[in-house]
Amino acid sequence: MSRRSRERPVRRTSPFRFEGPLEPDDLIGRAAETAQLLDYVAEGRTVSLAAPRRYGKTSLLRRVGTRFADEHDALVARVDLLGLDGAADFATRFATAWRRATSGDRRLRSTVERGLASLSSFGVTLAGVGVQVRLERDADPGSLLHALLDLPRQVARPVLVVLDEFQALHAAWPDGEGVLRGHVQEQLGEVAYVFAGSSPHLLEAAFADRGRAFYQQVLRVPLGRLPDAELAPGLGGRFESTDRDAGAVLGGLVSLAAGHPQRAMFLAHLLWEELVAGERADDEHWDRALQRARTWVADEMVAVWSALTPAQQAALRQVHRHGTATLRGGTSGGLSRSTLAGAQEYLLRQALIEQVERPGPRQGRRFRVVDPLLGQWLDQRRG
Ligand SMILES: Nc1ncnc2c1ncn2[C@@H]1O[C@H](COP(=O)(O)OP(=O)(O)OP(=O)(O)O)[C@@H](O)[C@H]1O
Ligand SMILES: [Mg+2]
Repeated sequence: MSRRSRERPVRRTSPFRFEGPLEPDDLIGRAAETAQLLDYVAEGRTVSLAAPRRYGKTSLLRRVGTRFADEHDALVARVDLLGLDGAADFATRFATAWRRATSGDRRLRSTVERGLASLSSFGVTLAGVGVQVRLERDADPGSLLHALLDLPRQVARPVLVVLDEFQALHAAWPDGEGVLRGHVQEQLGEVAYVFAGSSPHLLEAAFADRGRAFYQQVLRVPLGRLPDAELAPGLGGRFESTDRDAGAVLGGLVSLAAGHPQRAMFLAHLLWEELVAGERADDEHWDRALQRARTWVADEMVAVWSALTPAQQAALRQVHRHGTATLRGGTSGGLSRSTLAGAQEYLLRQALIEQVERPGPRQGRRFRVVDPLLGQWLDQRRG
């Protein structure tokens, strides 16, 4: 019987999780980022952590939060601002996060619950394990927000507040950054804040634009791709510990993933699924895994592509081929350089492309497509 037609035996799931945040001990690499964040957080500093989607921001912050809590008996409040819908929603999410953060300490828990209950005239109610805030139409949320944002200062334990997808705050509640700033400044040294975001370009604008409340107010921790030298042993070791061998195929996998954490885990998962216990991967396994990867992401790629204008599509192709959409003499489809430059900025804001750290001598800014599977999809469409 050929290997192709062999029935797949029932087996455990792979050790490569590629959906959602990882457990703190499951991360590959990120030792330097963890140590840097822990140092800043222990000093009560304000930090930004920017990286494109699925680079591992939430996983890293979970690890940092867990270690900070363990080592310093700290409280960690995690507020996710994705899809935020205005000031009342911010108040709801912040108060809920604070209630969760304090729920493990019996005395603190009742103090917090009493404190929140005393805000009922502002539309605050305790709901299940969370908090619901309903502001009267046209009500000024200022006093309520000040009362809530002051809560972390009132405890005698170190505190970390993580605001994930921070860039959503500005869009959903333009005054929010200004309201928050006063509290963050007042709590500097006592309460650490981490602002994380998956649109580095938009997040950066919050700290680099003179008109914005947090202009030059944060320390930056860069979160890039995972180096091959960490990825290869990290992935290879997981194959081994589950009685599989990625063999020589691992090099091709790591090279295709190009340091993209989620894509590396996704490809490793698919390759693992091709193997039975005790088996070593060969090119046939890898071809099948790759084929499944392409099928799996095809809809996602079509959705990304069809949401772009023709100019943005052209810019994406140019960036993929040449590292820039505005190569001299490299215009496409009769589009002007300024149109392509605008489209390139849009792609950057959407974090579909990212700036390459070190351009060559005398080169202008250079970019690359963030998702290596999108790059591959573009190659295939061309072919
Ligand atoms: N250090 C890492 N080691 C191994 N895999 C990682 C690492 N960081 C991220 N990943 C992979 O990326 C996936 C997404 O991680 P996570 O949710 O933390 O990223 P994120 O940047 O917060 O994503 P999003 O932008 O969607 O919120 C994980 O399920 C895992 O497969
Ligand atoms: Mg996340």
